Amino acid sequence: MTTSIRFLLNDQEMDMTVPPGLLVLDLLRHHLEKTGTKEGCKEGDCGACTVLLGELTDSGMHYRPVTSCLLPAGEIHGKHLVTVEGLNLNHLTIVQEAIVNEGATQCGFCTPAIVVSLTYGLMEKGANFDDEDVKYVLSGHLCRCTGYASLLRAGKLIQQKAHSLTPSATQSENILQLIEKGILPSYFSEVPEKLKRMASIPPGNGHLPSAKFIAGGTDIYVQEGESLPDLAVTLLNLFPEMKGIVQKGKNLHIGALTTFEEFAAHPLIQKAIPRIKDYMLLNASLQVRNRATIGGNIVNASPIADMVILLLALNAELILTETSPTQKDKPMRRIRLRNFYKGYKKLDKSPTELVKEIVFSIPEPDEQIHFEKVSKRRHLDIASVNSAIRISLKDNIINQIHLSMGGVAPIPLYLSQTCDYLSGKELNLSNIQEAMEIAQTEISPISDIRGSAEYKRLLSRNLFIAHFCELFPDQFSLKDLLNIHG
Ligand SMILES: Cc1cc2nc3c(=O)[nH]c(=O)nc-3n(C[C@H](O)[C@H](O)[C@H](O)COP(=O)(O)OP(=O)(O)OC[C@H]3O[C@@H](n4cnc5c(N)ncnc54)[C@H](O)[C@@H]3O)c2cc1C
Ligand code: FES
Ligand code: FES
Repeated sequence: MTTSIRFLLNDQEMDMTVPPGLLVLDLLRHHLEKTGTKEGCKEGDCGACTVLLGELTDSGMHYRPVTSCLLPAGEIHGKHLVTVEGLNLNHLTIVQEAIVNEGATQCGFCTPAIVVSLTYGLMEKGANFDDEDVKYVLSGHLCRCTGYASLLRAGKLIQQKAHSLTPSATQSENILQLIEKGILPSYFSEVPEKLKRMASIPPGNGHLPSAKFIAGGTDIYVQEGESLPDLAVTLLNLFPEMKGIVQKGKNLHIGALTTFEEFAAHPLIQKAIPRIKDYMLLNASLQVRNRATIGGNIVNASPIADMVILLLALNAELILTETSPTQKDKPMRRIRLRNFYKGYKKLDKSPTELVKEIVFSIPEPDEQIHFEKVSKRRHLDIASVNSAIRISLKDNIINQIHLSMGGVAPIPLYLSQTCDYLSGKELNLSNIQEAMEIAQTEISPISDIRGSAEYKRLLSRNLFIAHFCELFPDQFSLKDLLNIHG
């Protein structure tokens, strides 16, 4: 199976026929001689293959860093793909110069992708590029030899140069300034016109070529990577109908193709879950979050899937459709997310069914939400145990509660008996203690690479306690709660 794609590779217009599931990393290195993009882990972990993917939006061009080792070639149709070669000027860029001046490169294997990500930081934040942004854009990169202190110093030098820019509201305004100052190559200003002339994303036409679905690709390429270019696949991102977040009455509807970053950046989500940005930082890396979809997290069905744990506590429902999302008259069904998982990676879903939307009620002003995660490494690591809660009180009586926990059962777990026990009870130490014991009977952790069963039981108690300490600091001190767990 092949597909025709037209896209911009740096300043060049490309017209090719490729297998839609071919990895962009392989396309660049093996077919297009763009070897500045490096192959490291080929699993999204090291960041060495980072490229920028630019799309024309209503507010001009918008670029995101993504790992090309998890990106299907069929998706770059109509887009601007920027590799490190596409950032070259006839002198060192300010990013390259800063890396050289601070000795922030040794073997150089990670360096081209780091140049790409730091340049993205300038495009996104312009004059406001600060220390936190430097860490944010570097968080998806591993360097085996230099260490990170010199990269942070290089980031400081870049910030100093960025101070000559005028603060602006959008990425496309920043890009224009970077072109004017000779920091980005001038061809970037012609990109919007060139993309307009190219075909836009081909419509789905209601036809799914295969039930081998690829959304963000961040699980499926890790699991089945090498075989996908040879298979007939459906690139779900070619169905933009499944993207976006809207409010309908008292509910939020999340398109299954919404990425983690889009979810966390959306004003409706930030209002509903005020700490969503902090929680998201515990999740994967910027490059992976720019691709990973909520629907993919749900269907991949990992027992420690972070978004699933959050959505279980939000008491979310799924809308599934047996056919293409573009055909409006086709049957849909709704199922509570907590009833979707039937066993390890066993779902209440036919192979041809799509998760179309995720729906949850907008939290009332008296409701609180919290998410906790413990992993071996704070960033870019999957959880040993994670947990989330949604709770509301009336006169210190628990009015409504939803609790979930991951890494403690073959499925992402909704703690139904614990919730049943706590509903209608007074929020006090003895009830929390009793609930914690009930939770212990609901979980069944096993020993694996993420920790022993005993350790996970301990973590599950600690995260349970952490929810109440975080949400009700006037009522519970860490000391009181640790006492109850002996
Ligand atoms: C480096 C790295 C770090 C990661 N860190 C984390 C982490 O910290 N926390 C975490 O939870 N996950 C993490 N992940 C896992 C992954 O990013 C998420 O599970 C992500 O949400 C998967 O979404 P996707 O769109 O990439 O799915 P894909 O890989 O495209 O698809 C996954 C599966 O779901 C199916 N599918 C996808 N969408 C639909 C749909 N709408 N309807 C029906 N079937 C569908 C696909 O056919 C496939 O079987 C990480 C992955 C990588 C590579
Ligand atoms: S090669 Fe390591 S993230 Fe792509
Ligand atoms: S300089 Fe060698 S991996 Fe970073």
